[in-house]
Amino acid sequence: MAEVTHRTSRHPLRAYNSVWQLRVDTWSSIADVTKRLHDASLPHDKRADLEGELDELLNLVAPVENYWAYPGPQRVGQLRELLAEREYALASRTVDAISRRLVGDVAPSNQGGLSGQADDDRVDRPAAVGPRPTRPCFEVLVVGDVTGEDADQLREELRRLQRPEDMFTYELVFVPSFQDALVAVQLNFNVQACIIRPEFALLSNFDLDGIHHFLPRMDKEGIEQRTLVERVQLLGEAIGDLRPELDLYLVGHASIEAIAGRLGRRFHRVFLRQDALEMHLSILRGVGNRYQTPFFTALRDYSRQPTGVFHALPISRGQSVVNSPWISDMAEFYGLNIFLAETSATSGGLDSLLDPVGPIKRAQELAGRAFGAQRTFFVTNGTSTANKIVLQSIITPGEIVLVDRNCHKSHHYALMLAGAQVNYLDAYPLDHYSIYGAVPLSTIKRQLLEYRRTGRLDQVKMLALTNCTFDGIVYDVERVMEECLAIKPDLVFLWDEAWFAFAAFHPTYRRRTAMATARRLHRRYRDTAYQPQHARQAAELAAADDETWLRTRLRPDPERVRLRVYATQSTHKTLSALRQGSMIHLFDQDFGHRNEEAFREAYMTHTSTSPNYQILASLDVGRRQVELEGFELVQKQVELSMVLREVVENHPLLNRYFQILTTKDLIPADYRQSGIEQPVQSDMEQMHDAWEHDEFVLDPSRVTLSIGLTGVDGDTFKHEYLMNRYGIQVNKTSRNTVLFMTHIGTTRSSVAYLIEVLVMLAHELEDEVERMGPIDRRAHARRVAALTSQPPPLPDFSAFHRCFRGDPGGETPEGDIRKAFFMAYDDRLCEYVTPEEGWDRVSKGREVVSATFVIPYPPGFPILVPGQVISREILAFMRALDTREIHGYLADLGYRVFTEDALTAASSRSNPPRSPQSDS
Ligand SMILES: Cc1ncc(COP(=O)(O)O)c(C=O)c1O
Repeated sequence: MAEVTHRTSRHPLRAYNSVWQLRVDTWSSIADVTKRLHDASLPHDKRADLEGELDELLNLVAPVENYWAYPGPQRVGQLRELLAEREYALASRTVDAISRRLVGDVAPSNQGGLSGQADDDRVDRPAAVGPRPTRPCFEVLVVGDVTGEDADQLREELRRLQRPEDMFTYELVFVPSFQDALVAVQLNFNVQACIIRPEFALLSNFDLDGIHHFLPRMDKEGIEQRTLVERVQLLGEAIGDLRPELDLYLVGHASIEAIAGRLGRRFHRVFLRQDALEMHLSILRGVGNRYQTPFFTALRDYSRQPTGVFHALPISRGQSVVNSPWISDMAEFYGLNIFLAETSATSGGLDSLLDPVGPIKRAQELAGRAFGAQRTFFVTNGTSTANKIVLQSIITPGEIVLVDRNCHKSHHYALMLAGAQVNYLDAYPLDHYSIYGAVPLSTIKRQLLEYRRTGRLDQVKMLALTNCTFDGIVYDVERVMEECLAIKPDLVFLWDEAWFAFAAFHPTYRRRTAMATARRLHRRYRDTAYQPQHARQAAELAAADDETWLRTRLRPDPERVRLRVYATQSTHKTLSALRQGSMIHLFDQDFGHRNEEAFREAYMTHTSTSPNYQILASLDVGRRQVELEGFELVQKQVELSMVLREVVENHPLLNRYFQILTTKDLIPADYRQSGIEQPVQSDMEQMHDAWEHDEFVLDPSRVTLSIGLTGVDGDTFKHEYLMNRYGIQVNKTSRNTVLFMTHIGTTRSSVAYLIEVLVMLAHELEDEVERMGPIDRRAHARRVAALTSQPPPLPDFSAFHRCFRGDPGGETPEGDIRKAFFMAYDDRLCEYVTPEEGWDRVSKGREVVSATFVIPYPPGFPILVPGQVISREILAFMRALDTREIHGYLADLGYRVFTEDALTAASSRSNPPRSPQSDS
């Protein structure tokens, strides 16, 4: 049997990590075996073997093909017939065409074809080989009890309606049941629309062996008791939960008017069975709606107009470049279009980012729809700027913000600019790898309860967290928001999703995004069933102490809660957008009547008056892509990471030097309530459990490779080994780890290349060690020991010096980094201390207070912020750190700190001596 089935003893469809890869590989094996069968000189016994092999391969792929129009069950059936008749020449041509189309080599040539019968790769005709289709071809899922005859008739009707000038073509795939519909929308990423006929079965009769993990849990008895319309609604909701971007249509026989009013917002339209034309037009329009890119299209149209530029931007139209003998190579490199699209015009079909009323406004609205936001704003200077905009728009000076100390530096600078009182929260540390995890909910709740106890909860404005962290730790967003809102019902949330824009397009991830969670909670608090739940808990907790509140899974008061949720995303980091292309999404119940003006001002503060149009256009196109193929791309990104994990783990040479860190390594058991140690490689059901229940989960597409056993530190491995020798780029390293990310642009070939490189590096390392003399070998062993032993623990945030503390009583830890930041502008108040001097002073109990941010790369978080007391733990950590790049630290001078005189003077100003009257 072909290679694809031999990987492990599990069912091959499961063992393969990817049903899609298996499907493509199996068709390629079928093509290969069929071609060999075509050889007339094949001995009889060999032929029998190959026929057996082919039969098994078809059995393997047939259950999957039930959910696809192409090649689909009919072509599998026809192929079997051909093989039974030993028509190998025809069979070979057909299978070859299928295989090549599945790997994307071949355009579907049935540009009007809906047959579901053999067509482009018709068993009697080889498919045309050509460029990728200019017209995308998608599939439409028809759910319902449809006879074969009915199906053929509908195909034929809709096929007749297709026109060469249509933007897209489509084919129909039919499934009979509720369960099959849910399997189909997960398995068949090319489905873009669903037509539901109310008479569908609940359970599947298909062979689900090997793919039953696509079956979501279903309350069969509950559904059976529902009316027909309710069942349709439930199916619509279940499909919407998995693939919200799909257009849903209902086709009924009678009383569709009555049904139409009861279906809810998930459904686009209801048709009578005979309305094929309306159905066809709606399907095209629905997909066209996602395909539209208002700003990209406007810019492209504009670039084709003849214009005379008597304004800034000499490179627009390319004149200053193309006609230059010195810089025309720029035009050769970029092509002319980039110059034609460079313009500062805001009219003539274009729009102004600062006050959008035309295509930019529309593009932002479409992005809001795609990412599930109430409002979306494009940002052309990265999430660094997006964070500054959001923080400024929410905070007025003196308000308290709880923030992960390891957040991106843009938050620290934004908090400084906004004059916030900053309460730095500590994430759990992973000392061995010098990586921080995420902030436990208990830490956040404890702080909020402390503010409540000290009567200062009203000063707390916002919680800012990074989800997911650079290393892929993902919060339980719902639980964090619910429990915090139970303590402070108007708390504003900023979720820094710089690395998580892709998450909205996959059901597993989507649950843990800010926007999907805000919508879910909004629905929950409006549901009348929720109020009694909350009332019960409120009664129980009325007289409870803080420890009880800490232990309880808190539920907010629906009457008082205000959902104010912001997410900032570097679209460019994980989706198709030009560098610096970012988005701010918000779901803020108070936006319109309270925060819109402040947001506008903050947006004006930080946004260039010359925003880059190419970045904006790329955000528009990037949104189109994820609305049409995001699910497929994200699923594949995860699967490729699984492949990488599996190969490294099972490769005898690789696992001698490298280990891929697992969920268990990165998330302590206390935060894995499901008890599952490795949900990433477990089956989907377990993964679902972990993502549903665990306080933290690991984004499987982040692959952290532990490299301590190589004796090479992370930074050297990144620059000298991966980049210089093999051109492999990675971003983040720690002392003894390197982070690899798969993303929507990762291909099977690039993963294969990485594996090859790791194998080559392992060989090189092995050869190097072998060639070492005894002294070098001892040095190598020492390096390995240093990298694999416990370094000094990652230091927590120490404290703000009392003259920067917000709480004069010193009960809560927040501090004013703006005051410290600007105080450091006065050189007379600052001095430099070397690490040794610092150590000496701290050991003698003197206060040493940083005047600047000190940020080592890696790990990349500020080990010191302005106004922070330097502790022994921090100095010990810095001493052990072998990082080349430390921002804010001067190798020859040391740390910039405040003089003791300056601190004394500042302290007396912030805590003036009490007058005799006030004493009395
Ligand atoms: C968590 C986080 N937030 C924000 C940013 C800044 O994003 P950008 O590069 O889009 O400005 C980064 C950059 O790495 C980041 O890691």
